[in-house]
Amino acid sequence: MNFRRTAGLPRLPSPPSVEELIVGFDRGLRTLFARATSSRPYPDADMPEPDLTPEQRRHAAALMRVNHTGEVCAQALYQGQMLTARAPEVRRALARAAVEETDHLAWTEQRIEALGGRKSVLNPLFYFGSFAMGALSGIAGDRWNMGFLAETERQVEGHLTSHLDTLPDADVRSRAVVEKMRADEAAHARTAVDHGGAPLPAPIAGAMRAVAKVMTTATYRW
Ligand SMILES: [Fe+2]
Ligand SMILES: [Fe+2]
Repeated sequence: MNFRRTAGLPRLPSPPSVEELIVGFDRGLRTLFARATSSRPYPDADMPEPDLTPEQRRHAAALMRVNHTGEVCAQALYQGQMLTARAPEVRRALARAAVEETDHLAWTEQRIEALGGRKSVLNPLFYFGSFAMGALSGIAGDRWNMGFLAETERQVEGHLTSHLDTLPDADVRSRAVVEKMRADEAAHARTAVDHGGAPLPAPIAGAMRAVAKVMTTATYRW
């Protein structure tokens, strides 16, 4: 993407090219409808499938559905942010982290299937909402783009910690996946800060938490 300067206004990214739009649309379709593949070994590889009660299984599958939707949102956010980010090194950092987010997508999808659960029917809605948020964040400039990413990753990290508190102890496979994801999200937050991410105003961080609450509550059920 090129940049244009308008007299008296901050530099704005040019509108995305047709090629960028096609690539973005293709990624969206693949995120929503194709099976994700992991570039790294699955964190729960070689672990035995746990013996859970029906209620534990249902609860664990619902939590992994929430996490899977979170990763669908991460894909969309990163795609939107990459489309409008300015500095090449920021776009490269986003692309590197996006590969790890694809791993998370594959890991959570596999756990949902093993637990006999299903993915959320709300994923397309959250994908397009998150894509728009990511693109707007990039338009605001790299400092805010990275700040938004750092705050998002920190909130996801906290959310995953809360899942470790409630996932059945016996479900060692889901726990291994969530623990590894949590470590990755913390690293993504550090990368965003290292790339100049500004602390977000408290009302914005609060609004993000409120949106996340709606997303997690809805996808636990649907
Ligand atoms: Fe993730
Ligand atoms: Fe992340």
